[in-house]
Amino acid sequence: MVDPNYAPITTGEFQLFAKLIYKIAGIHLRDSKIALVSNRLRKRLKALDLGSYREYYDYISKNDSKAQSEIMHFIDAITTNETYFFRHETDFDFLRTTVIPEVEKRQLARNKNIKIWSSASSTGEEPYSIAMTVAEALDEIPGWNIQILASDINTTVLSNAEKAVYGPYAVSRLNNYAINKYFDRQKPATPAGEEKYLVKPHYKKMVKFKRHNLKESMNVMKFDCIFCRNVLIYFDNESKTQVIQNLYNALNDGGYLILGHAESLMRIKSNFKYVRPSIYKR
Ligand SMILES: C[S@@+](CC[C@H](N)C(=O)[O-])C[C@H]1O[C@@H](n2cnc3c(N)ncnc32)[C@H](O)[C@@H]1O
Repeated sequence: MVDPNYAPITTGEFQLFAKLIYKIAGIHLRDSKIALVSNRLRKRLKALDLGSYREYYDYISKNDSKAQSEIMHFIDAITTNETYFFRHETDFDFLRTTVIPEVEKRQLARNKNIKIWSSASSTGEEPYSIAMTVAEALDEIPGWNIQILASDINTTVLSNAEKAVYGPYAVSRLNNYAINKYFDRQKPATPAGEEKYLVKPHYKKMVKFKRHNLKESMNVMKFDCIFCRNVLIYFDNESKTQVIQNLYNALNDGGYLILGHAESLMRIKSNFKYVRPSIYKR
């Protein structure tokens, strides 16, 4: 999309943004993303009334409070947030049939705690799918304390996630029975509008949200299972190694790491044991 009000982004400007997002988030921006990045950043140029991409780069590179808050918009503009409920259903089957029974066995004599982290949660479909799966497996058993943490580097997706209100795309892989079980339906406000799907309060209250950059270590608690799906693809091997070490440190012994289906730990050093494609164990 060409906007006559702005000179197109130059390769040099694109490289500056690529270096910056790599430094902040570990995301490796391929050259093929130049059109996508320029379209997304143009909205920020307009919002701040800046005349060029270089001016925008200088704006966010300053060490002041305006730059700090704009950096959040910059990250939000660069990240890709595609997701939907029960994406790769077999991962939720694995959670139900392997992770939860193992945690139950380990914890029989102790406090009944299960802690799961959705570490690149985007707009919340993944952590709520986890809540729905865990609730079904453990809810009827008295005394279980279910903790699900959802985090992302992008603050816009996190605030949408907390609202727990979705459109038809997010639930498009679910049948009517599942939709009625997990969501309250809200009729469209206008004849041309879309139906909305509100996560039922029972599942909504199981998930806590927090901004977290995967490049940093997670010191809040240790988890029995971490979902880190469809984000490693954006990292190069160096960032990936750092992220995987952070995730390893955040897991209890015997805990599982679940990656996206196109992702693996091949070509990076880690102490994880391979379980099956895209699933690893500490
Ligand atoms: C494609 S979405 C994946 C959503 C979900 N996990 C799934 O598989 O459906 C990738 C998410 O990773 C987040 N992300 C990218 N870099 C990150 C980082 N360094 N730390 C935390 N989250 C990051 C993005 O903001 C985005 O919401």
